[in-house]
Amino acid sequence: MNDRAAPVALSHLLHHTAEAVLAVQAGRSLTDVLAAVPAAVRPGVQALAFESLRRLGGARAVRAAMAGKPPPREVDALLVTALALLWPPAPGRRAMYPDHTLVDQAVQAAHRRTPAAVGFVNALLRRFVRERETLVAAAERTPEGAFNHPLWWIERVKREWPAQWQSLLRQANERPPMTLRVNARRSTAEACVLRLAAQGMAARALGPHCVMLAEPCPVTQLPGFAEGEVSVQDAAAQRAAPLLIGQGLAPRARVLDACAAPGGKTAHLLELAELDVLALDADALRLARVRDTLARLGLAATLRAADARRSAEWWDGRPFDAILLDAPCSASGIVRRHPDIRWLRRPDDIDALARTQAELLDALWPLLAPGGRLLYATCSIFQAEGQRQIDAFLQRKPPGGACLDPASPGHLLPLPDNGPAGVAAPSADGFFYALLHKNPSR
Ligand SMILES: C[S@@+](CC[C@H](N)C(=O)[O-])C[C@H]1O[C@@H](n2cnc3c(N)ncnc32)[C@H](O)[C@@H]1O
Repeated sequence: MNDRAAPVALSHLLHHTAEAVLAVQAGRSLTDVLAAVPAAVRPGVQALAFESLRRLGGARAVRAAMAGKPPPREVDALLVTALALLWPPAPGRRAMYPDHTLVDQAVQAAHRRTPAAVGFVNALLRRFVRERETLVAAAERTPEGAFNHPLWWIERVKREWPAQWQSLLRQANERPPMTLRVNARRSTAEACVLRLAAQGMAARALGPHCVMLAEPCPVTQLPGFAEGEVSVQDAAAQRAAPLLIGQGLAPRARVLDACAAPGGKTAHLLELAELDVLALDADALRLARVRDTLARLGLAATLRAADARRSAEWWDGRPFDAILLDAPCSASGIVRRHPDIRWLRRPDDIDALARTQAELLDALWPLLAPGGRLLYATCSIFQAEGQRQIDAFLQRKPPGGACLDPASPGHLLPLPDNGPAGVAAPSADGFFYALLHKNPSR
């Protein structure tokens, strides 16, 4: 008997994808939803859910134009999922499935989910395929249909980045590159590119320890991953550790990584220098991932689950030479990697996150030794979590107490042409970095 697993029917994947889209629309994170999907179908459901959420604005606009009154939620979720997957592919890309296969399988999924709505789903999807050009053109005349983000998000990006807003929103619907950080203790980007090529995997070096793959792959296929030679980390995220270390950290300098989980930047710091790192995170479960990451890479830090704002509960009173504050944020710079984020966030969330970031900055600054440095980072493109946050912080400090390093990158935008490598790698994630120095006499 052949013991190969039977191929999973597309209708089965569409059913789970529609459930995931429904859950995201009800406010649940896609990561959590996918964790509950049976492992055998999870990669397929993830791929379909990512595509569906990147076209959800357009699919909703078409469904509204075709059906008027919204159908029951379960029917609607399957419809918008199928419409998103039937959307014309971007130039240079192919549709994931032929139209007729997708429509047939969506109808099969409707038989299982909502038998009473089978005829309706069938008729609506077939009409969409027949009239696709006109219906898509009409949907793309609405902002949500054109950019596939909620209106408040579109307006915010337009206000804050008047020259780049359309590219920013369009790029957020693209598939992100897979980028590796080569462990500086073990190898170099050039050696890694050769090792990948030997396995038939095309890649190019973006810096001494940064490698971008031509095609993403599961980490288990990366040569040297299990042995700690490489990690997956975006090029913009790889700016943090070199910025904090700069030219000036002595061996065994005391470093606080205040929001450390899952540990990408903690590990990078330790790969680059001999440091005494305290890695803190408020979420004990996420902190366990820092332990796993460091173990794989053969690195060591002190780990502590605590709220960084409540230093009385965890600080031993000895000042830090350097602090990395990679603060919780909206993640608006990494929407390509998490296409659910835009549909989950609410405008009030940005204000609440900015308040937490300000509290973290104010609580951690006194823990920094005179002459020490603090790197504030967020993976956000919103000014309230970036430049405006730092301007307000500097205003709260007495003159001369804190100064912003003129070489601070500021906002790095997630665009293909966001500057030469070394300033920001092309197609890297959106980030904000501010390197602050504490006056040596304070
Ligand atoms: C952007 S992530 C950090 C990513 C991490 N630096 C890395 O490179 O892998 C933000 C982290 O801050 C943590 N966090 C949120 N509020 C916190 C607080 N008050 N104190 C400490 N950690 C906090 C979250 O649990 C989350 O793991």
